Amino acid sequence: MQVLETVASRFGHELSVEEHQAGWCAYESTGTPLPDSTLAACVRGPAVFLGAVGDPRADGLPPGKRPEAALLKLRSTLGCFANLRPARVDEELVDMSALKREIAAGCDMVIVRELTGGLYYGQPRSRDADRAVNTLVYTKAEVERVAKVAFDLAHGRRRHVTSVDKANVLEVSQLWRAVVEEVAKGYPDVKLDHMFVDRAAMELVTAPKQFDVILTENLFGDILSDEASAMCGSLGLLASASVGGKVGLYEPVHGSAPDIAGKGIANPIAAIRSAALMLSYSFSLHAEAAAVERAVSKALADGLRTADLVPRGMASVSTTTFANAVAEAVK
Ligand code: IPM
Ligand code: MN
Repeated sequence: MQVLETVASRFGHELSVEEHQAGWCAYESTGTPLPDSTLAACVRGPAVFLGAVGDPRADGLPPGKRPEAALLKLRSTLGCFANLRPARVDEELVDMSALKREIAAGCDMVIVRELTGGLYYGQPRSRDADRAVNTLVYTKAEVERVAKVAFDLAHGRRRHVTSVDKANVLEVSQLWRAVVEEVAKGYPDVKLDHMFVDRAAMELVTAPKQFDVILTENLFGDILSDEASAMCGSLGLLASASVGGKVGLYEPVHGSAPDIAGKGIANPIAAIRSAALMLSYSFSLHAEAAAVERAVSKALADGLRTADLVPRGMASVSTTTFANAVAEAVK
């Protein structure tokens, strides 16, 4: 929020913000993780900037009462079917990558994760004492619209889409593949590859430079994006934009990290970069978004690191110090 305020004052914009509860805090005060008032405010838009949700105190609760339910309902109600998760290895952080320097350096990809379908939402779903059911279902229309987002994005990048599926086993993936092929015909200058998800998981850590845009379904995208964060150096770095509906939803890829809550050591980069995506996608403020991105790079280049970005035991700065530095650099 501090970085957004600085952007507004430097570029002469008026920043109008309403705060609403979602997740555990909402459940505690109202008995539901996503109160109607929150949902109504989000639907009014024009953009939702979301803090991470999740709390171990909710572990015993049924799925519909858990903090995550707020997120899933928001995503589907807002119709944000395409979740863009950029994963670029920052020059300054190559040595924090879980991968060898020569494998990680220069990697720059975007994972386009389908966000409102698949196993997360499929019906029927149920759980009895000794049997549980979830349903993997995709329609042609659902695949088509997210594939178009991926191809449009690739068109403005290195013009390469890798569609990730499990078509050697799953009918849903066979449909996915066929529809993606169809969509690809409309983009003759974008190269399309298909890859099975198990192989993709392996290539992501052995040869990640080959990826430009990865297009995949909801659950595979969830898993592969956390894997990509290890390539970047920390889960605290990855931002996301969920688009496709009237209102965009912007959230860090990481969870709420309850183990470090209140310690002032969380990495704010994912949230700050999510704000930059919001400036760009919801408000078409591209210069402002670029200024935020540059400010993050400057703070890193100046040697500032939160605890997740230094070898264990080395000195680090707090969340606030890092965010202050980014805001300073935006000025
Ligand atoms: C993510 C998160 C969520 C997801 C959880 C919190 C429900 O892991 O955004 O990647 O699985 O989509
Ligand atoms: Mn996830």
